[in-house]
Amino acid sequence: MANRRLAPTAEQPESFAFTPENAEWARQQIAKYPEGRQASAVIPLLWRAQEQNGGWLPQKAIEAVADQLGMPHIRVLEVATFYTMFALEPVGRYWIQVCGTVPCDVCGAKDLKRMLEERLGPSGHVSPDGTFSWIEVECLGACCNAPMVQINHDYYEDLTPESLSKLMDDLAAGRPVKTGSQIGRTSSEPLGAVTTLTDETLFDGSRIGAWRKRFEEEHLREAGADTQAEDTQAKDTRAKTEGATAAAKNAAEPKPAKPDSGRATESPAAAAPAQRVAEGKAPVDPAERAGQARPDRTTVAEPKSGPEPQPGPQSGRSYTETPSKPGEGRPVAEAKGSAKRAGAEPNAAPGRTNAAQAKPVGADPGDKGPPGPGSKGRSKTPSNR
Ligand code: FES
Repeated sequence: MANRRLAPTAEQPESFAFTPENAEWARQQIAKYPEGRQASAVIPLLWRAQEQNGGWLPQKAIEAVADQLGMPHIRVLEVATFYTMFALEPVGRYWIQVCGTVPCDVCGAKDLKRMLEERLGPSGHVSPDGTFSWIEVECLGACCNAPMVQINHDYYEDLTPESLSKLMDDLAAGRPVKTGSQIGRTSSEPLGAVTTLTDETLFDGSRIGAWRKRFEEEHLREAGADTQAEDTQAKDTRAKTEGATAAAKNAAEPKPAKPDSGRATESPAAAAPAQRVAEGKAPVDPAERAGQARPDRTTVAEPKSGPEPQPGPQSGRSYTETPSKPGEGRPVAEAKGSAKRAGAEPNAAPGRTNAAQAKPVGADPGDKGPPGPGSKGRSKTPSNR
């Protein structure tokens, strides 16, 4: 990639100004952008200045564009030196831009550059007759048809040193040339035989017909579903209307209620003893009492045979009887007399009148006290509860 520098001072014009037509065109371009965004027109204006100046951009043109857009000169110079579409030095009548990026490079761009150098001299210089100049640029976006060059506004692809040299001969002689691929490819289709999208049905319309048929079937199915839903909705509406009519009719013609309808019946459920006494009878009916004493109406428990069944372990693996004595298998609080229990004062324990009577567990030599963390030899283990 060549350095992007302005042309030597000797080649720079004294001044630059748009022609009246181009000045009007420039004003129209600037008017496309909102107030305060006029700098967005910098590239179109630079391009038009380059075309007006014979294909390259002098320093005075860059400054004139900057002044017109209210931009610092350096900002427009940055734009002009960044894009290779702007030629900063005089160019030939045919300006050849050779792509030297990797895809084109591996496909033969080196050979094209060698041929151009042999025929025209170093890049950036115009041929002695003023017809050609060339430079190397980065990818021009036609990598599928590498190697390629851009000459003025057109692309020429699938080149070899020979085909490019012939192309240049035709251009110099004013003969018609073919743009695009130089080996007969259409656009960027594969080299040689087509290997993809070879199914004829992709292009004869039959697949489109199948798709259309499917869409029509789906449409019919959806239309049928809509009709079914409408039927269901109509049935619901009819049922609601009938229910509302019946309710209105009942409200207009209320039926007589039954005497006990919805009310508790106040009748004695049983002959209570107090009621019997009030009626002058014995509190309990003697016949009923006699019936209660009848042996044939008495339930007698059957004597149990065999040993009393003992409750067994639920898991069948282990069973430890829950200690019943306090201090056996359960940790006992340290009996220091000052330890408080939640909800009760130490002296409020039953049978204890003051702290002097507090007998810590284990204070008695005969009392071994509760098992400590390291104690051993207890016959029963504490429950996990
Ligand atoms: S690499 Fe040459 S056109 Fe993209």
